[in-house]
Parts: sequence; C-alpha cells; structure tokens
Amino acid sequence: MRPLPILLFVSLLGMALAAHVQIPLRRVKSMMEKLMEEGKWETYQKKRDEYRKRLPHELISGSQIAYDYGDIVYIGQLSIGTPAQRFNMILDTGSSDLWVPDSSCGGIPGCPDYCNKLPKDQCPQFCDPAMCCPGSSTLPLNARVGIQLDQNPCDLKHRFNSSASSSYQKNGQQFTIQYGTGSAQGFLGQDVVCLGDSNVCYSKQLFGQATQIADFFENQPCDGIFGMGWPALSVDQVPPLLNNVVSLLDQPLFNVWMDRKGTQQDVVGGLFTYGALDSVNCDTSKIVYTPITSQTYWQFAIQGVSQGAYSSKMTYQVISDTGTSLIGAPQAVVDAIGKQLGGTYSPFYGAYTIDCNATPDDIVITIAGQPFNISYKDYIVSLNGDCVIGLFGFTFGGFGPQWILGDPWIRSFCNIYHIGGVKIGFAPAYHSS
Ligand SMILES: *[C@@H]1O[C@H](CO)[C@@H](O)[C@H](O)[C@H]1NC(C)=O
Ligand SMILES: *[C@@H]1O[C@H](CO)[C@@H](O)[C@H](O)[C@H]1NC(C)=O
Repeated sequence: MRPLPILLFVSLLGMALAAHVQIPLRRVKSMMEKLMEEGKWETYQKKRDEYRKRLPHELISGSQIAYDYGDIVYIGQLSIGTPAQRFNMILDTGSSDLWVPDSSCGGIPGCPDYCNKLPKDQCPQFCDPAMCCPGSSTLPLNARVGIQLDQNPCDLKHRFNSSASSSYQKNGQQFTIQYGTGSAQGFLGQDVVCLGDSNVCYSKQLFGQATQIADFFENQPCDGIFGMGWPALSVDQVPPLLNNVVSLLDQPLFNVWMDRKGTQQDVVGGLFTYGALDSVNCDTSKIVYTPITSQTYWQFAIQGVSQGAYSSKMTYQVISDTGTSLIGAPQAVVDAIGKQLGGTYSPFYGAYTIDCNATPDDIVITIAGQPFNISYKDYIVSLNGDCVIGLFGFTFGGFGPQWILGDPWIRSFCNIYHIGGVKIGFAPAYHSS
C-alpha cells in the first residue's frame, strides 16, 4: 500500500486539536487582488510574460514569501494559467501532490448554499434572484445538486477557472488524495504553474482540480496544497512541480526559512528560495548535510535526542515537514521530555503544557554526529493563550518515519532540500527576536 502523505498540520489538528482549537484566521487577499487594487496588475502580468518567454533558455532562481499564521501554518502562493490565477497554498514538504479547488467546486461565487435549499418563492427574499435562486437562468446545474445546508468548504476559496486560461490543456484523469483528516478529489488538468512571485515556472504542469474538498479545509487559510516531496510519494503519480523545474534552476535545491511571529496572524514570516541558498536569513557558512534515506518524504536519520537530564542515543528515521505545525515523535520520547520539562499532559491538546514564563534548555537532536539545538522559543507554541510544548506522540507503523520534524525544527534551522544531491542540509536560522 502506498504511504499516505502526512500533512501534519492536517493530521495533527485532526487527531488532537481540530474539534477544539479554532485558530483565528482571516481571509487572505490574493496577490492578484492586492495588485489589482494598487493598479499594478497589468505591469505584473507583463513582467510574468517576459519571464515565461525566457524559459527554458536560461537558468533561474527565485524566491517566494511565506505568510505566517501564529507559527502554526505557513502559506505561500502559486499562480496557474494565462493570465495567472493565484492561489494560497500550504507549501508542504510532507506530500507530493499539487491541487487547487476547481471552479465547479461549491456553489456560485457570491451565492450562499442556503439559497438552493429555500423554497422557490422564498429564495428571492434572501438571495440575489437573478443569480442565486433555483430556476434562475444563470444558475449552473452543478450548483443545484448535492448541496448541503452548511457552507461548502470551496465557497471561501479561490477556485481555478480553466475556461479563463488560454494555456490550459484538458486531461480529465480522476484523483483522490486522503490526508489525515479528510480528502480532496477531482480531476487532473495541465497548465503553466509559477512559484509565487518568482520567475520559476513550468509550462506543462499536471495538477489536481478539486471538485470536492473535506470540511476540514473550510477554516484553513489555504486554497490548496503544494506537495514538495519526492515523486514516489505522489498519490496521483504525477511528476511534482519541483522535479519538473529542477533542471532549470541555478542549483538543484530549495531553501526554506521560517520566522517566529508568535501569535501574529497573516504576517510575512518566511521565505522559500528556489535554486539558491538564502544567506540573508540563514548562516549558510555552517550547513551540515545528511543523505536522504528514502526518496519519498524528505527522510533521513538522527542519532539521538536530549533535553536536560533526559538523553536517548537511539537512531531514528525522521522527516522534515514544512506542512506540520509541531514535532511528532514516539510517545515515550514525548512523555520523557514533557516530564523532564515539568509539563502537564493536556488531553485537550494531545500534548504537554508548561508555564508561560518558563525558559527551559534546548532540545538537542544529533544529526551526522553533530548537535542541533532547538530553543524553547521555537518548541513552545502559544495556542489559545496556553503554552504548549510542541511535541506530539506519533506512530507511523511499518517502515515509515518515526519522527516528523515540523515547523519548530524549521524555525530553528533553515532546511536545504537538495534534490540534485539527494541530501538535506541544515543551517542556523536568523531571527530578529
Ligand atoms: C470562467 O471564465 C469564463 C471565461 O472568462 C467566464 O465566462 C466564466 O464566467 C468564468 N466562470 C466562473 C465560475 O467564474
Ligand atoms: C545546546 O544545548 C546544550 C544543552 O542545553 C547547551 O549546553 C549548549 O550550549 C547548546 N548549544 C548551543 C550552540 O546553543
């Protein structure tokens, strides 16, 4: 059986937090909307077209900003089609599929789903009769079938309209991707896809156009998911975008830096750099590389972990996962460190909480024989005013990874995902606080 992609933000919150924790997230305006408001959209598109004409004749590198939501989720953007349609994506090194909601997902933009449920004669009192009421001539059939009373999770999302893209190519093959807490399904299409504001684009990228997404996604600040793992992890068996662009890059790697923004929401708080090292945010003079042990996830070996008086010299298989909010580890390790830190187990969070004034010692992970320190500033996260030790118990089973080094790890060390060298590197990350 194929391993499920672990979108740990998804599976973590799904297992432990989803029912309780509502991370206050406001809707992010797309870059397109922002540029349009500022009257810069046309200039931007011209620039984009110039970039595209240059491909694939010169090698390129570029970067994209990530937006930080409470140090729990980091969102970046992709653009798809001609002219570009923009999407807010979870940039997820823990999966390998790319999908966005399709325009056929959900109801008509601007029409709440309850319009479809109202008796025909009452609808016009509550909804725009020309656009939203049953029987109105402009109402597409798909908006009238299979509607549930509550809002469709796609209604709040940016949705891809293939009719509006001149570079779109039909494919139509079906896809279903099961994440920890829900699924996305639909069909495949092909179009030009660019990484954020960068000039890193691939003109013939296959991607999922979701016609149904799980309710879980409704409250997430993303439209879709951009998997940055290895091809073998792709559930669709579609060559991932990064593998398609890697030969165009100056260097066959990408570099991820995540900032610490505490509880702030929707603030610039990270940088994904493609084809180059980020020596502005990372101490790239101190990179330590270790080989990838399974080309599925970004998987590698660690040779131990310690915190205070607790120390384990076990070798573990771990993954580096930008899509995971916390660090997943065997329950025995979580309990040992939780107790060592004087924490209290909270069934509510499925993790240990600690006094918010505590400034405990680093958690130290050994990689390639060297110590890598994670500061409490990175491993303690604030949720609902509680200070939570960012470790959760996790069992993959079989030959899968035993640890998931999620965002607290990546805030501590820039992770350099070296596709060409089949290795991963770590460099101390700079933070202003
Ligand atoms: C999709 O784009 C086409 C062509 O621009 C437009 O006519 C149509 O209204 C759009 N559909 C949606 C659902 O936005
Ligand atoms: C890493 O943590 C250990 C244990 O707290 C500490 O002794 C050491 O000085 C730390 N190293 C760095 C580079 O901060």
